[in-house]
Amino acid sequence: MELPFSQACENNKNVILNELKRYINVPGKLLEMGHGTGQHAIHMAPKLPVTWYASDLPENHEYLEMYLRQYPTENIKSKIPLKAGAAPLHKQLIETFDYIFTANTLHIMSEEQAYAFCNEVAELMQDNGLLFLYGPFKFGGEFTSESNANFDLSLKSRNPLSGIRDFEELEDRLNESGLELAERIDLPANNQMLVFKFQR
Ligand SMILES: C[S@@+](CC[C@H](N)C(=O)[O-])C[C@H]1O[C@@H](n2cnc3c(N)ncnc32)[C@H](O)[C@@H]1O
Repeated sequence: MELPFSQACENNKNVILNELKRYINVPGKLLEMGHGTGQHAIHMAPKLPVTWYASDLPENHEYLEMYLRQYPTENIKSKIPLKAGAAPLHKQLIETFDYIFTANTLHIMSEEQAYAFCNEVAELMQDNGLLFLYGPFKFGGEFTSESNANFDLSLKSRNPLSGIRDFEELEDRLNESGLELAERIDLPANNQMLVFKFQR
């Protein structure tokens, strides 16, 4: 059977992995929110010293299962349901993590869900844990490129609740929860990796 495939994932998987490798030196537990096709988990988990907990809405779990049947990967735990903006995150998942990674999710979910994620994510983190947010963001209310402005319009035409999020709005909520920006990394295709560190 044909595996689910995202060209964007294919293009960015090594770019993202290189940044994660800079930060993830100590073995630990990593939670991925919104695994989508599963390409990131399958590509990156074997190359990092982590147990990779791949979560998504239940209707997307089968995508990663298809990859796992073809490429069994010892350090991936799958079929983990997690939905930002539903029940509080720590009630959905009774675990804490050293690393939390999410790619291209905050602009797909509603603003309310994205803010709920930022308000609640610390509840899932170990002290000194790291949060990695990958995707397009607005800074100072501005898109970083015309193509991101057009992408925002196309997102909203598919779902009026979707949209590229303001970095400052996310940062304010993360700061209130004890997370501080450690690094903003500009990456190809007008995407950023935002790295936050959690301290209780
Ligand atoms: C564009 S896909 C990104 C998938 C993958 N991370 C990637 O970079 O290709 C967006 C993902 O966000 C997930 N998602 C949407 N709303 C969500 C929510 N409220 N909580 C958690 N994940 C959500 C979707 O199920 C989907 O897997």
